[in-house]
This record gives sequence, C-alpha cells and structure tokens, in this order.
Amino acid sequence: MRKLGVNIDHIATVRNARGEDHPIPYVAALNAIKFGANSITIHLREDRRHINDQDLKIISGIPKLPLNLEIAATAKMLKIAIKHKPNFVCIVPEKREEITTEGGLNLKKNNKKLKHTINRLNNSKIRTSLFVNASLNDIKIAKKLGTKCVEIHTGKISNLVKKNKNYQKEFKKIKKCAVYAESLALEVHAGHGLDYKTTKILKKINQITEYNIGHFIIGESIQFGLKKVIKTFKKILK
Ligand code: PXP
Repeated sequence: MRKLGVNIDHIATVRNARGEDHPIPYVAALNAIKFGANSITIHLREDRRHINDQDLKIISGIPKLPLNLEIAATAKMLKIAIKHKPNFVCIVPEKREEITTEGGLNLKKNNKKLKHTINRLNNSKIRTSLFVNASLNDIKIAKKLGTKCVEIHTGKISNLVKKNKNYQKEFKKIKKCAVYAESLALEVHAGHGLDYKTTKILKKINQITEYNIGHFIIGESIQFGLKKVIKTFKKILK
C-alpha cells in the first residue's frame, strides 16, 4: 500500500500572513489524519517562516499522530528533533533565500554532518530519511550514511509535466533510483511539487511506497473548501 504524507506547512503560511492564530496547523493535522492521511509532515525551518516551535510542540504531543519532521542537518535542529521525538525525520537542505526546498541534499559535501545526524536519530529510534536528488550515486552514499529511507526530489519531473514537456527521461531516472534503493533495502519516498497528474505518473513505480505532498493539497483544499465556507456565511447572513 502506498502511503500519503500530508505536509501542512502552508496552513501555517496562511496563519502567519495575518500574524494571528487562524487557521490552526494542529487542527489541519488532526483532520488530515481523520480523512485518511498516513502521516503529517512539518518542516521546522531555521527562519521559522511557517511552522514554529509552538506548532511542533503541540503537534508532536498529539497522541498516536504519525509525525514526520523535516529539518536541516544542524546541531540545533537535531537537539529539537530528539527533544520532541517525532516518529520520522527527513533531513533536507536549507537555504534561507529559497522559496521552497529546491533540490536534494549534497551528500558528498555534508557527509560527516549527515552521518552524525543520522546516527543520533537512529539511536533515538527515530526513522530517518534523506531528501536526495534522483542520482544512483547519491542513493549509494545515502545507504552508506545509515539512513532507513530516501525521499527522491520530484521537483524536476513535476515541472516538466506541468509545462507539458517530455518527462520520460526524468521518469526513467527516478525509476532506476527507486529500484536501486529498494535493492539496498532502503524505503523509497517521493516528494516535491506533486499534484494529481504527477502522482498518477509516479505511481507506476512500485518501489515508491510513500508520497509527501504539501502545497498542492493545501491549495486544492482552499479552492474546493470555499463552497462550504461561503454556504455557512450565506446562512448566517440570511
Ligand atoms: N518532501 C520534502 C522533503 C519537502 O521538503 C517538501 C517541501 O518542499 C515536500 C515533500 C512537499 O513539497 P510540496 O509542498 O511541493 O508538495
């Protein structure tokens, strides 16, 4: 069974746009699970642009909620992760100036730091994942680093599909990586920029067992949730 992880960062983006407390990320987390999500993802960025420490504290305290925390491999973030003990941690690269996570980790450059972070998380019984580019060499390095899972960055194929460009080469590359990762006993996840169309395409790769999707789910929820909210207001205003 393929699993769906719902990233609720952008519930916090909308909340923060007003600097008040609505909408509430933990309510979104509870609802997403209630409606069938297999896990909730939150990314505690170093600049706290969406999810903040209080959100993490509250959401990680919800009993039995499968939580996937995304963090950069820094000492501060590692300390926070070990303190809050999410079920899963996905280590991602982070640049302050980026709008979103633009690519996978540079595993060669950050080898030592990543090994240390993964070791500490493994010792704390937190399942680890590395956000990687679709590269066979990176999958090989990821395995050596001791991670349990890899999440393949799907930004490139998503952009090609959205622009109606030929995505076959990228699809084959992702498939090769997924097959190779599975052969190394790594769990294979996919994420970034996914919508209905790209998810349908990637679903053909049986080795991918988890999909982590954020922006599109929150965007669609706003568009299609309008009906219910407007009806409620019309009732009030009758
Ligand atoms: N997976 C990882 C590791 C991410 O960092 C992100 C957010 O950039 C996502 C999945 C979700 O991406 P999106 O919001 O584009 O669906």
